[in-house]
Amino acid sequence: MGDLTIRLETEKDYRAVEELTRDAFWNVYKPGADEHYYVHQMRNHPDFIPELAFVLELDGKIVGNIMYTKAWLEDERGMRKEILSFGPLCVAPQHQRRKFGKILIERSFEAARGMGYDVNINFGNPGNYVSRGFVSCKKKNVCFAVEGNFPTALLVCELVPNALDGRRWMYIPSAAADCCEDRAAVEAFDATFPPREKAWRPSQEEFYIYSHSSVVR
Ligand SMILES: CC(C)(COP(=O)(O)OP(=O)(O)OC[C@H]1O[C@@H](n2cnc3c(N)ncnc32)[C@H](O)[C@@H]1OP(=O)(O)O)[C@@H](O)C(=O)NCCC(=O)NCCS
Repeated sequence: MGDLTIRLETEKDYRAVEELTRDAFWNVYKPGADEHYYVHQMRNHPDFIPELAFVLELDGKIVGNIMYTKAWLEDERGMRKEILSFGPLCVAPQHQRRKFGKILIERSFEAARGMGYDVNINFGNPGNYVSRGFVSCKKKNVCFAVEGNFPTALLVCELVPNALDGRRWMYIPSAAADCCEDRAAVEAFDATFPPREKAWRPSQEEFYIYSHSSVVR
């Protein structure tokens, strides 16, 4: 397998992580990708948690990384609980499906528990997460604050068993990813990387279905 090391990201890693992110996400969820711009911006956002930004090196080269922001749950009385949300999580395409993603999730969850966090919520493709302890938000009674529904792609992982007690919670994500709404800035940043063709892939339709549907029963 080679020599695997997992450690916190440093400033010297920034560009390599952005290149990796672009490579891992390119054409997966949309033609092209925004996630490398998100990574570039999120490090300056107050919700970013540098203590949980890990890189995975294989023989000294970065082949994976995970980054987190704060997020929140709010109950019906208005009580707020700070939780985590990770993403981007990336593994270099040529090294995917070798459990590197699993290593990054498990190592960072361990660190997160040490910081006192007990819940992580992600909006993503269930296939990537259900074998890592994530369940549908419906099962934990966590709805999406904006629409009050239970999106198929909204997945909850309790870092501490039974951290959620069954009461109704609304999930409030960080606004850190809103930077990607500035399309001119995303495109200008992407232009600093080698040109690459944007194309349709079936995974884009798969994610459209997950992200536009809800669990109702
Ligand atoms: C998602 C990603 C991070 C997973 O990392 P990875 O190292 O490839 O994943 P792992 O080897 O740890 O396995 C992840 C899980 O994917 C699923 N999986 C494995 N092989 C699969 C395949 N051929 N097709 C679909 N799902 C598969 C399984 O659930 C697997 O867990 P299990 O084998 O323990 O049951 C990586 O594929 C990636 O970077 N993808 C592009 C970017 C992305 O989508 N990131 C996540 C959104 S933030």
